[in-house]
Amino acid sequence: MTLLIIAPGERLEWWQREFTRAAPDLEVRSWPDVGDPADIRYALAWKPPAGELAKLPNLQAVLSMGAGADHLFVDPTLPDVPVTRVVDLYLTAGITEYVLMHVLRYHRNQPVFAAQQREHVWDDRARELRQADERRVGVMGLGELGRDAVAKLAALGFDVAGWSRTAKDIPGVACFDGPDELAPFLARTEILVCLLPMTAQTADILNRETLAQLPQGAYLINAARGGHVVDADLIGALASGQLAHATLDVFREEPLPGDHPFWDHPQITITPHNASITDPRSVVRQVAENIRRIDAGEPLLHLVDREAGY
Ligand code: GLV
Repeated sequence: MTLLIIAPGERLEWWQREFTRAAPDLEVRSWPDVGDPADIRYALAWKPPAGELAKLPNLQAVLSMGAGADHLFVDPTLPDVPVTRVVDLYLTAGITEYVLMHVLRYHRNQPVFAAQQREHVWDDRARELRQADERRVGVMGLGELGRDAVAKLAALGFDVAGWSRTAKDIPGVACFDGPDELAPFLARTEILVCLLPMTAQTADILNRETLAQLPQGAYLINAARGGHVVDADLIGALASGQLAHATLDVFREEPLPGDHPFWDHPQITITPHNASITDPRSVVRQVAENIRRIDAGEPLLHLVDREAGY
């Protein structure tokens, strides 16, 4: 019974070490050293090259190395086997830290002070004095990640709303759902956080029309997928003042090409898709458990609904 890891090279040794510790009986190989493809029963993958998984004739499941599985579904040859994703305390905590850091940064008007510092300007009037309960934060996506983020934003005292595909009921959070409630959700959201899964319904969801539904001078934090945002529409919204600033962890093309206009944009903060990183120390346990379940014919943890796309 062999697991194949198909993922960026730099963390392969770490994964190997953790599997040796957590599942010593499991044989683990790292792509491209596949050996006999017929040996491979399970694949743990992050952005695998298209066509590689289809070369494994005895594959029984694909385990996404991340919270999202969209990186697997872009491959039209993805074998018709169960797909799981990661749901992990550390992964969720990382995203929530990122969201809190940038919401607080916007709430406290930090981009203005950063610009003042560059100009050696001391002007404390620039900070608009608002209490957290007067700041309306909205989170798109109320799954594992979104629910943790809204709970902690609410605990900090923010006026928090959430928007999701299907109706949710979260204490202390104004919940909106479905296409009809997107406009009222956006209209009340001064700091917008995107934590949506990437699906056919959510692709390009932050575009000229939807960004225009936010209050003027709103902020955007995208820690979901680059494909949620229409790049040119974001730049247009920043230029017109419709948006004051954006923080982006994810991009349509990654690494972000060196000549992309986001890099030097004074109203954009960029991080290299590391808002949260899958931690092998905790995630090997759920991978090993899912392998045990596959072998025992039991229902898998964190199974992805192919129809829904997440
Ligand atoms: C990262 O983007 C993930 O899906 O975990």
